[in-house]
Amino acid sequence: MDCFKTEILQPQVQYYEIVDSTNTLAKELVAKGEKEGFIVVAGSQTAGRGRKERSWLSPKGGLYFSLVLAPRLGFESVPLLGLISACAVARGLTALGVRNSKLKWPNDVLVGNRKIAGILSEAVSVGDQTVGVIIGIGVNQNCPVEQMPPGLKWPTTSVIDELGTETSNEELLCSIVNEIDILIRNVEESNSYDDVLNLWRELSSTIGSRVRIHEDDTTIDGLAKDIGSDGSLIVETDEGLIHVLLGDVSHLREQE
Ligand code: BTN
Repeated sequence: MDCFKTEILQPQVQYYEIVDSTNTLAKELVAKGEKEGFIVVAGSQTAGRGRKERSWLSPKGGLYFSLVLAPRLGFESVPLLGLISACAVARGLTALGVRNSKLKWPNDVLVGNRKIAGILSEAVSVGDQTVGVIIGIGVNQNCPVEQMPPGLKWPTTSVIDELGTETSNEELLCSIVNEIDILIRNVEESNSYDDVLNLWRELSSTIGSRVRIHEDDTTIDGLAKDIGSDGSLIVETDEGLIHVLLGDVSHLREQE
């Protein structure tokens, strides 16, 4: 693929027509020695995984890939790498012509409150050593929502529904990876996540929204105020400010 313009990552793409999950396969291959820049791409997945052990419907036409990153920014930065990736997906979609991509914490990509892409970042450890981070990205690209298999759990859209035309999986893959490279470079050069956090804030539809946080069996409502330097969502609740790092968040409409 000659559309990569990376300086830090050295992309090496392995394409499969069908796999269970590109994240699962990438994890196995990293354990066997594949390094940063390795990318598993699949035409479809039979057991695509989302956050919180949910499934990710992966019919043909979508973009499904997993990128291996070295734990160069530390293990604790897995949530921050997720934020980097979400910003990169939003920018990649904009470059394809999709308007108004917004980020919902932690790293869903929405267009007009409908989900168009999701990210699952997972650390790979050997013993107590983190040897890599897998960034798994799924974009509903050339799969119209009305043709998706049953089981969608939230309002959904796709690139083809937004643009009315097919777009290139390869072009979107390259532009997302190129954007990740730019953002990682920024973090390394400035030795800080400040620019990434600011970009995420700019693209976010969560900040300023009333939200419901679901954690284990409890829910709590509040107003999303900001994200913290660890990538947590800072929410003002009746009990004061709380930092949410692992929960799930839904946006509430004004009247709820
Ligand atoms: C989510 O929104 O919960 C995250 C969805 C992540 C889906 C992608 S598709 C490519 C990669 N392989 C997987 O099994 N999951 C991720």
